[in-house]
Amino acid sequence: MNAPANIPRPVGLLAELTHRCPLGCPYCSNPLELESRAEELDTATWQRVFSEAAELGIIHIHLSGGEPASRRDLVEIVAHCAKAGLYTNLITSGIGLNEERVAELSRARLDHVQLSIQDSEAESADRIAGYEGAYARKRDVARSVTEAGLPLTVNAVIHRANVARAGAMVKLAIELGAKRVEIAHTQYYGWAKTNRAALLPSRADAERAIAEVEALREEHKGVIVIDHVIPDYHAHYPKACMGGWARRTLNVTPTGKVLPCHAAETIPGLEFWSVREHALADIWYASPAFQAFRGTDWMVEPCRSCPRKEIDFGGCRCQAMAITGDARNADPVCHLSPHHYRVEAIVSENTAKAAPDYVYRRMQRAPAVV
Ligand code: SF4
Ligand code: FES
Repeated sequence: MNAPANIPRPVGLLAELTHRCPLGCPYCSNPLELESRAEELDTATWQRVFSEAAELGIIHIHLSGGEPASRRDLVEIVAHCAKAGLYTNLITSGIGLNEERVAELSRARLDHVQLSIQDSEAESADRIAGYEGAYARKRDVARSVTEAGLPLTVNAVIHRANVARAGAMVKLAIELGAKRVEIAHTQYYGWAKTNRAALLPSRADAERAIAEVEALREEHKGVIVIDHVIPDYHAHYPKACMGGWARRTLNVTPTGKVLPCHAAETIPGLEFWSVREHALADIWYASPAFQAFRGTDWMVEPCRSCPRKEIDFGGCRCQAMAITGDARNADPVCHLSPHHYRVEAIVSENTAKAAPDYVYRRMQRAPAVV
């Protein structure tokens, strides 16, 4: 189809190659109902999707999961993306990679690796991941990545169990040879919402972590780039989630559903199209789910008349849905939202009590949402 002039082209595509993963992180952004291996797209279909992505103008492909290394055809997929002129970023737990596989990926012209680290202390890191020995294996993978000459970013998700070591994670990333570290406070969708009472840090702890990381930014300028995603629930204004709905990126699930964001399926009534039946360009420009919250016409007050509506696009639709029950509402993280009191109540209720045990993410029937 011809590209409508009023709709920008996407720049990035996040490919959830599989929901399979050996780890069980309690803040995983995958949905509670994981898609099974038997239903996953095959190699040829993924390759067709990536060719269509290149034609659509997409530049960056983020190969993610679950654990993308669980796919036996990962090297083939990377090689196909390189041939199509796409920049590939592998988002991995590291489990499933070794020196040989990293070298193969490098030969297939992988461009970049983002490695998750759960904590700077081994015992805590393994407990958060729900996988004994994960931390040690990740250190080995980091070494293989840098020895292969691939640029490395360390991803660290911050929450109650590791909030005191946000600064230590930056130092660990430097030690591992990363040129970039993403310190991202947990976003409460998917499994993280189920585990919110266990994960949410107190405001005081979150603020201490933010100050520590910002101080390190100055201290290590020129050594490492720090991307800092500050905690939503303690913010004044929301973030422009996904850079605005259907403005910059799309997600393809393991079975081929195309979503405007990873949590979009939590919004009832949206119709998602699949790459099995539709071309990627048709999905981007015309599918109902992408049209639902594109631009600003769908907004209600206070966003509708707010001067920031083209800056943050009303924040996150999925968070508005989860906390207010209506995805059109302003993200309640915003202090101008009439529902903002709900966020404050969640913070004080959840941080006042001892953290419960994690519900680990596993490939089995998901627990009921709490
Ligand atoms: Fe953003 Fe809406 Fe809040 Fe304005 S009222 S700052 S547009 S979320
Ligand atoms: Fe869906 Fe923010 S996660 S819009």
